[in-house]
Amino acid sequence: MGKLTIMEQFERADKGGYAVPHFNFSDIWDLEAIISAAEEMQSPVIVASNMKCASMHSPAVIAGMEKAMAARASVPVYLHLDHSTTVELCKEAVDAGYDTVMIDGSKLSLEENIACTKAVAEYAHKTGTFVEGEIGKIKGNTEEAQYTNGDFLVQVPDAVELVEKSGVDFLAVGVGTAHGFYQGKPEINFDRLREVNEALSLPLVLHGGTGIPEEDVRRAIANGINKMNVGTIIYHTNVVTIYKTLQERGDGIHTLDLMPESQKAIKEVVKGWIKVCMSEGKA
Ligand code: 13P
Repeated sequence: MGKLTIMEQFERADKGGYAVPHFNFSDIWDLEAIISAAEEMQSPVIVASNMKCASMHSPAVIAGMEKAMAARASVPVYLHLDHSTTVELCKEAVDAGYDTVMIDGSKLSLEENIACTKAVAEYAHKTGTFVEGEIGKIKGNTEEAQYTNGDFLVQVPDAVELVEKSGVDFLAVGVGTAHGFYQGKPEINFDRLREVNEALSLPLVLHGGTGIPEEDVRRAIANGINKMNVGTIIYHTNVVTIYKTLQERGDGIHTLDLMPESQKAIKEVVKGWIKVCMSEGKA
């Protein structure tokens, strides 16, 4: 059997009561660690470059590196462009061979969000690339306090309209989660998540994984989440381990001895998240 498409993976996850984990990477070292952890756990995995990473290295270079690693992996690995706010970068990623791209029009008006998501979907679908959109807002480090009184929350009719008019394949929803470390306990609006899930028949994505308690992730999965995004804890583990290793072993250490230490730490984090997503053994 050939590699399943990511949409087939989401369908399996939906039926099986787990989520496909998504991890953000920024270089060859953390990418390799994420894939290696997924292999140990026999989990399908989505590896994602955010807009900054894709712009700095270029989608073509990233895709070349990821394709070589995915080809030799013992689990299905999918390359995703995370949170692109431009149609152009999404198109570049599609051309470079990404499996999926995210166009984030969540900060635009609904009409503008529909228009840019539709433009990306039309382009991506020509080559069998799938598209993630966003509706409602994912909070963030600096914005956590900014969205108050539920104004980050996805509105069900807006989500329905975006899906119907844009041709998007899967959807990130603003239900209270935030990127970065949480200042307090995340307050996820599970009622709204359930309502969106009931109104739509496409896979839903939960962003802002770092710091969400395990029981809340499981509850979100039970209420329609098929893709779970984790980023900050990967970068954080990377940097903290580099710092610690430099302190222990001195700054004369070679990169080729330094980075494997970081990889070991990242692998443990990824394996922990695969357990939380319940995707272990689902490759
Ligand atoms: P965190 O960085 O909070 O884990 O969120 C990751 C994410 O949602 C990437 O899209």
